Amino acid sequence: MNKKITLKNLQKMKNSEKIVMITAYDALFAGIFDPLVDIILVGDSLNMSFAGREDTLSATMDQMIYHTQAVCRKAERSFVLFDMPFGTYANEDIALQNAIRAYQETGADAIKLESGSEKAHIVRHLSDNAIAVFGHIGLKPQSVRSEGGYSIKGKSQEEKDRIVENAIALEEAGAAALIIEGVKPDVAREVTARVSIPTIGIGAGVECDGQVLVWSDMLGFFDEFMPKFVKQYGDGGVFVRDAVRSYASDVKAGSFPDEDHTY
Ligand code: KIV
Repeated sequence: MNKKITLKNLQKMKNSEKIVMITAYDALFAGIFDPLVDIILVGDSLNMSFAGREDTLSATMDQMIYHTQAVCRKAERSFVLFDMPFGTYANEDIALQNAIRAYQETGADAIKLESGSEKAHIVRHLSDNAIAVFGHIGLKPQSVRSEGGYSIKGKSQEEKDRIVENAIALEEAGAAALIIEGVKPDVAREVTARVSIPTIGIGAGVECDGQVLVWSDMLGFFDEFMPKFVKQYGDGGVFVRDAVRSYASDVKAGSFPDEDHTY
């Protein structure tokens, strides 16, 4: 399929075809991923893997807009999802102002916010104003400081019920889809069965309507720490180190550039 993927296409994929999502932060990788995936997420994870920060909390709207603009230049077919940074959807007015900026200054197709039922009124306000919103439930990386770390959610029945309630509240508020992160698989299974919008999992087992991975994790570029849910499909770090080592050694030896690479 070469036509641009729309929200309608994604919604039809629920129960028929798995949705493939990957992050990208620049035009180069967006162009490579574009024909191969359904959704490109410009995640605030870029604050860690691209900007080298400890967590996602210091990502800004300006930063997300810059990267989403770059991604949109090469994402001709994929649906592009803009991740709203911490603090940019603290209330209805702030959220709408920032979501409008995301729509007007980039070509993003939807925005994502880390949210439970406590933010359902914000999701409602955004959808009433023609913004397509993806919720993000379960483990919410923007809560890392308030929770004192990252931890798998939905281990107790009470927590599981709360996540399912959050999912239902977000669907009722008009959310177009849900990202489910860091939960036991039975939680994701139940959420996926109870909502009619697509669910896309990360560390949430196989029974979601789709999966998302951070590109630098799945291509083996970020090898300092690898969470259990990440499958490494490539050895990018080794590939790049070997290539740069060869380049450096050719330059040191005076064997690059050779005649083939000289005008
Ligand atoms: O920022 C991000 O990359 C994300 C994914 C982990 C879903 O939100």
